[in-house]
Parts: sequence; structure tokens; C-alpha cells
Amino acid sequence: MSQMEAKEVSEVVEHHGEIIDLSIPNKAEFVSVVRLTLVAIANRVGFNIEEIEDMKVAIAEACTNAITHGKNTPSESIDIRFTLQEKGLEIRVIDKGKGCEVEEIKDPQIEELNENGLGIFIIKSLMDDVVIHSEPDQGMTIIMTKMIG
Ligand SMILES: Nc1ncnc2c1ncn2[C@@H]1O[C@H](COP(=O)(O)OP(=O)(O)OP(=O)(O)O)[C@@H](O)[C@H]1O
Ligand SMILES: [Mg+2]
Repeated sequence: MSQMEAKEVSEVVEHHGEIIDLSIPNKAEFVSVVRLTLVAIANRVGFNIEEIEDMKVAIAEACTNAITHGKNTPSESIDIRFTLQEKGLEIRVIDKGKGCEVEEIKDPQIEELNENGLGIFIIKSLMDDVVIHSEPDQGMTIIMTKMIG
């Protein structure tokens, strides 16, 4: 391992457990800010370009859901929490909108593609672990984790 690589690894370990919180207005035009922030953080953790692209798609789907289904008032914010892990990144997207019954979120069916969306299915396929907490009128928190490699 070169000295440079060794330095990068120790930097990653040093940041284990550190948290970056971001709060955006409940508006679609701010999703790009979240994606840019994600890229900066993911680079630091040591993800490759493909992994970063996957996370960009996943975080955009989660934020779009929070904005479109959450039905928060425009003054309310969407909160995004990045937690650095030793070899990965946990991302939480939290809205205080109308929420839903998690059991009712179905995987998409080829015959009825219009009825069941693709967003959560895509998120699950791109991230290593996805946990959704929601109840009607209690908002939604989606916790997604991706590991390096
Ligand atoms: N943040 C949220 N608040 C409330 N309900 C949500 C939220 N995110 C998802 N849902 C519910 O889960 C369903 C599935 O979400 P998903 O992203 O998979 O599909 P979609 O948003 O309907 O369509 P697509 O993402 O393909 O445009 C939504 O239709 C909605 O009922
Ligand atoms: Mg969606």
C-alpha cells in the first residue's frame, strides 16, 4: 500500500460514525443540492464512480418521494442525514408528510406498471440495505446503506 493510499484509509476510519445533516426546502429544485452533497461525501468515503452513480439515483428517488408523496407544506423541510461508516455510507431521508402503510408498498408488476411505482424498487436494487419507517400522518423515514465494493 502506498503512503497515499494508507493516508486515505486512515482518513476514512477516522470519520467513522460522523454525521452530516442537510435540510432542504420541500421543493424539487433542491434535490440537485442533495445529489451534489452526496457526491462530495461519497468521494471522501472512497466509493467508486459506479457506486456513487447508484447512490445519486437512490437519494434522488427518496427525496422526490418525500417531496411528492409527503405533501408537506412548502415551508416544511426534508431532512437528509449522512452517517459515515468505516467502509460505507448510511443515508436517511426524513419527511414529516402524510406517510403511508409500509406493508402496502408493493414491488412493481409488469402487468400493472402504472399502479405501483418504481422508486422504492430501484432504491432497493441499488443500495445494500433499505429500511422504511412510516405511518399514516407520521411522515416517512427511509434508511439506506451502501458499502464499498
Ligand atoms: N415519502 C413518502 N411519503 C408517503 N408515501 C410515500 C413516500 N414514499 C413513497 N410513498 C408511497 O409508496 C409508493 C411507492 O413509491 P415509489 O417511489 O416506489 O413509487 P412512486 O413514487 O409512486 O412512482 P415513481 O417513483 O416510479 O415515480 C408511493 O406511491 C407512495 O404511496
Ligand atoms: Mg417515487
